Amino acid sequence: MVADGADPLLRFPILMTDRLVLREITAADAAFWLLNFSASEVVELTAWEAPRDLEAARAEIEQFCTLPWREGTGIRWGITLRGSNEPIGTLGYHGWVQGRDRRARMGYDLLAEHRGMGIMTEAMGVALAYGFKTMTLHRVEVLVDPRNVPSIRLAERLGFHLDAHLRQSTRFRDTFQDDLVFSLLAREWRAAAEAKH
Ligand SMILES: CC(C)(COP(=O)(O)OP(=O)(O)OC[C@H]1O[C@@H](n2cnc3c(N)ncnc32)[C@H](O)[C@@H]1OP(=O)(O)O)[C@@H](O)C(=O)NCCC(=O)NCCS
Repeated sequence: MVADGADPLLRFPILMTDRLVLREITAADAAFWLLNFSASEVVELTAWEAPRDLEAARAEIEQFCTLPWREGTGIRWGITLRGSNEPIGTLGYHGWVQGRDRRARMGYDLLAEHRGMGIMTEAMGVALAYGFKTMTLHRVEVLVDPRNVPSIRLAERLGFHLDAHLRQSTRFRDTFQDDLVFSLLAREWRAAAEAKH
């Protein structure tokens, strides 16, 4: 459900589910961002080094949240539990190609104490509905480290198909790591959504 009434592509969309509110991330969330992206397993599984400090966290928020939304190349939500404004994770689209191709890639992460309760399944459900309906995406892609069993299970549970195993395609520190490419197409998402009703 989209809470904002105005044109959803002009105003940052707040999305709601039974347990969650997905809202914009701002510089005021820098302490959360630093904590979230400093967890060793998040660093390892996303192949992205932790921000050094609060200033670096604010710069990443600008780079990965504010600018992409302003430029129409991505959208990243902070996940909060209803009744609290404090983010417990993030998810969103990057590499959003509008116009003819209509595709984007997704990323997601949660603080460790909130995992294993179906939170990301719920958040991804509403974010995918927004992606296919409002952003009119044709294809959504997720890149997953083959060691990341929870993320693979999540993608499969949401109906994503395994397209490819890319060998040594991501350089992290002194190694090249493999990536699995999962995709979900608009018609597949629509068929699954209709089957639920
Ligand atoms: C990947 C990640 C986002 C998954 O988040 P999550 O909220 O724990 O994922 P889920 O919603 O699938 O919940 C996980 C488990 O809770 C179970 N669960 C409990 N209650 C549930 C409910 N109401 N609905 C759905 N699942 C529920 C699921 O069955 C699932 O177990 P399974 O994987 O053994 O089947 C999380 O592990 C994470 O942040 N990892 C580190 C960062 C990362 O790897 N990011 C992805 C990079 S590609």
